Amino acid sequence: MPAHDSRLWTIDTPNTSYVVAVDDHDRLRGLHWGPRLSPEQALALLDLPESPFRPVVGREPRFDLGAASAFQYGHNGLQVRFSDGTRDLELVFAEAIEEDGDLTLVFADRHYPLEVRTRYRSHPGSDVIERTLALRNTGTEAIDVVRADSATWVVPGLDTPRLSQLHGEWGAETQLTRTTIPYGETVIGSRRGITSHQANPWVAIDDGAATETSGPVWSTALAWSGTWRITVEKGPTGSVVVSAGFGHDPIAIRLSGGETLETPIAAGLHTAGGFASAASAWHDYALAHVLPHPDEVRPILYNSWEATEFDFTAEDQMRLADRAAAMGCELFVMDDGWFGARVSDRAGLGDWTPNPDRFPDGLGPLIKHVHSRGMRFGIWVEPEMVNPDSDLYRAHPDWVYHQPHRRRSEVRQQLVLNLARPDVAEHLHARLDELLSQNEIDFVKWDMNRPFTEAGWPDGEDPDRLWFDHTRNLYAILDRLRADHPNLRIESCSSGGGRVDFGILRRTDQVWTSDNTDALDRIAIQDGFAQVYPARVMGAWVTDSPNPLTRREVPLDFRFHAAMAGVLAVGGDLRVWSDADQARGAELVADYKRIRHAVQLGRRHPLQAGAVTGVQYDRGDQTVVLAWRRARSFAYPDPLLKLHGLDPDARYRDERTGRVHHGAILAAHGLELGLDPADYASAMIELTRLP
Ligand code: GLA
Repeated sequence: MPAHDSRLWTIDTPNTSYVVAVDDHDRLRGLHWGPRLSPEQALALLDLPESPFRPVVGREPRFDLGAASAFQYGHNGLQVRFSDGTRDLELVFAEAIEEDGDLTLVFADRHYPLEVRTRYRSHPGSDVIERTLALRNTGTEAIDVVRADSATWVVPGLDTPRLSQLHGEWGAETQLTRTTIPYGETVIGSRRGITSHQANPWVAIDDGAATETSGPVWSTALAWSGTWRITVEKGPTGSVVVSAGFGHDPIAIRLSGGETLETPIAAGLHTAGGFASAASAWHDYALAHVLPHPDEVRPILYNSWEATEFDFTAEDQMRLADRAAAMGCELFVMDDGWFGARVSDRAGLGDWTPNPDRFPDGLGPLIKHVHSRGMRFGIWVEPEMVNPDSDLYRAHPDWVYHQPHRRRSEVRQQLVLNLARPDVAEHLHARLDELLSQNEIDFVKWDMNRPFTEAGWPDGEDPDRLWFDHTRNLYAILDRLRADHPNLRIESCSSGGGRVDFGILRRTDQVWTSDNTDALDRIAIQDGFAQVYPARVMGAWVTDSPNPLTRREVPLDFRFHAAMAGVLAVGGDLRVWSDADQARGAELVADYKRIRHAVQLGRRHPLQAGAVTGVQYDRGDQTVVLAWRRARSFAYPDPLLKLHGLDPDARYRDERTGRVHHGAILAAHGLELGLDPADYASAMIELTRLP
């Protein structure tokens, strides 16, 4: 990260450069985010004409640090309110600190006691640049921070800039859409206290012409699991900036004298080579720099939720465990309904001790049973919640978020605990630590099933702080539990995929992608998910047919093949599966064990030909193709499926048929899938590159 000029800096990654410079008014301009530049080329950026300063017209140079100040009428990533009511900042550049490859640019307000640090970090072998902002109140009077975006990314000029985003709702997460960016501000985010099903904190910008395999893409992802906001702003001349940060309007966080506010990481990535290249660069980043145990492949889990919901005994769980083990599952997860008075969703949340009727001798016998079948044992918890009908709530009705003279709105008969309170956080950590210390629990599914409402803290000193401290304390509890129970693995769930982001993934091992386990819907959800997050964390259960949510009937192979594109798991009621389905399930589980290294750790290429869609995963000499076709039209034959990224001069053996294919032919003409002509046909094909 050499300084080529005393006021210009370059953050280099293997293929890209990000260049910023402080101008004559001490404003930090974003000069370049694109292909890698030499030091000489980076310096030449200073010779490019600057947009003229025309405050009335509104054309402005684009700033990497968007501080609220004179003539800044657009979105400002940094906004504060000083105690005397002053809102404008006049920042003066103080110094640049280069340490361990990180660059920190330090600014201070010309008059008020506020220091602003903007940090840039890159990692060897990755084109992702991580950015954070730190604000320090160097005085004694409080400063309200209205907005502290982690990063404002200046995207180079594009003719028809397009936005890709992931939107959705419960049961329909991570739906990918690409739209032309309108003029003005486009805001996506969450005000729910969680990352949300409605929007995932990631966006990509391209010039409107990128495809899966071609074209430059600029994308950013925010590593935060509470409320957030990404503002994409298109100026009058079509220029685009993307500003990403935690918190939402109209909340502010109070910074007392001497206090520092650190923002979460906003990661940015410029790639050439289309959307698939961008996605796989994000996957590589997640595996190398985000996940706690990146080299582990995830075990095949069985989850009991769809089989039993709340209606079970310890013996039912054991019977399911026996069936799951026979099918080849490696981790048995007992879901909701095992604790307190939790025999329905009306009571018990908050009381994390085994239900005495269901587990008179505690969890020990079930755990022993599961372990004796060669599986690990996992358990469901929803620590941030309480049912009003629980011992915890009866003892501490003030421990939930609430506001004076307002009702306490329930969702699923539950309220949200005020995890921002240190005593609540301490209590939760102690209960979970006790549960994990007293029982041989290998895996926790950590759920969070409702958004915040009436989010108040009547006797809190700075009530808006709850929006930040809830997530920080959640992270701290997870970090502490992991440190004290190093063999524990954690799944993040929030009614399915409501809390999927690089913040939670830094301290969990996988996520529950969606409560919608319909294979057809899942293919779309998984495709959106894969824009950012790797298959290594994408939990995918095979459940019953017809699907409990959609009532769609889908053959077993198709359900398995769809789930095998992620972390395969089984979630059906194995007590009622036919012997034939159990036997076929065991074969498909065995198939998955052969391909999971490629799926979970390999490079993903999306595939499409006519009505056939699929994914290809490459790792070392192994190429795996999973393909699906719902229905054929007019009895037309299925097209061949063109593969990507293979060596044209190499030959590849189809392990199913023994047939040897040329890489060049697979790329130019495609692979014959041999799909069944009936509806809901699917295939898994393993190719091995021959020496
Ligand atoms: C949420 C989860 C489900 C299941 C139930 C249990 O909906 O997403 O997988 O754990 O809670 O109540």
